[in-house]
Amino acid sequence: MIPPNSLRDQIYSLTKPIHDRLDGDPDSVRAIQPTATRDDFVHLLKRTYGFVKPVEEALVAQNKILAPVFKFEPRAEIVLEDLRVLGVKVAGLPVMSSTPTIETVGHAMGVAYVLEGSKMGGLVIAKQVSRFLGIESRFFLPGEPKSVVKEFQAFCAKLDVFARCECDERDAVDAAIETFTLIDAWFVATRQRR
Ligand code: HEM
Repeated sequence: MIPPNSLRDQIYSLTKPIHDRLDGDPDSVRAIQPTATRDDFVHLLKRTYGFVKPVEEALVAQNKILAPVFKFEPRAEIVLEDLRVLGVKVAGLPVMSSTPTIETVGHAMGVAYVLEGSKMGGLVIAKQVSRFLGIESRFFLPGEPKSVVKEFQAFCAKLDVFARCECDERDAVDAAIETFTLIDAWFVATRQRR
C-alpha cells in the first residue's frame, strides 16, 4: 500500500503511464512468455544493461550528494555476469547515450527511485524466466523476493522524508520522469518487434 500524498505516491502516479508502456514493451513481454526463447532473454538483458550502466554511472558520479541520504549499490556488472553465464560476449555492448540531469539530492533520489523500483519488476521477470527457460537470473533476482521488496520499502521510506524543501521534491519528480522518459526512448530505439 502506497501512503497517499507521499512523494513516492506522486512519483508513482506521474510516471505510471511510462511504466505501463515499459511493462507492455513487446520485446520484454516476449521474453517472459511461455513461448520465450533464450535469445529473447539475452536481448532483454542487453537492453537492460544499455540503460542501467549509464544511469548508474551518472548517479555514482554524484554519490557525494546522494550518500548522506541513501547508500546506492550499482548492479550493471551483475547484468554482465548473467550474460556471461549464458555464453554471451559482453565487450562493446551498446548503451544509451543520454543520462538524466543530476545536480541536487532531489534529482539523485528521483533517479534512484527508478533504479530501485525496477527491482520490483525484476522479481516478475526472474520468476517467469526461471519457469519458462530454466534460467536463474542473478540480476533480476538479487535475493529473497521478500527482502528485495523490504529493501524497496526502506528506500521509499527514505524518499518520503529526505526533502528539506519543496524544491527537493520537485527535483525528485522531474528526475524520475526524465529517467523513465530516457529509458522509454531507449526501449523504442532498441526494439526488434513492432
Ligand atoms: C517487463 C518489464 C517490467 C515489468 C513486468 C514490471 C513490473 C513491475 C511490477 C509488477 C511492479 C510492482 C507493482 C507496481 O508497483 O505496479 C513494478 C514496479 C516498478 N517498476 Fe516495473 N516492470 C517492468 C519494467 C520496468 C522498467 C524497465 C523500469 C525502469 C527502469 C521499471 C520501474 C519500476 C518502478 C520505479 C517501480 C516502483 C513503483 C512503485 O511502487 O513506486 N519497471 N514493476
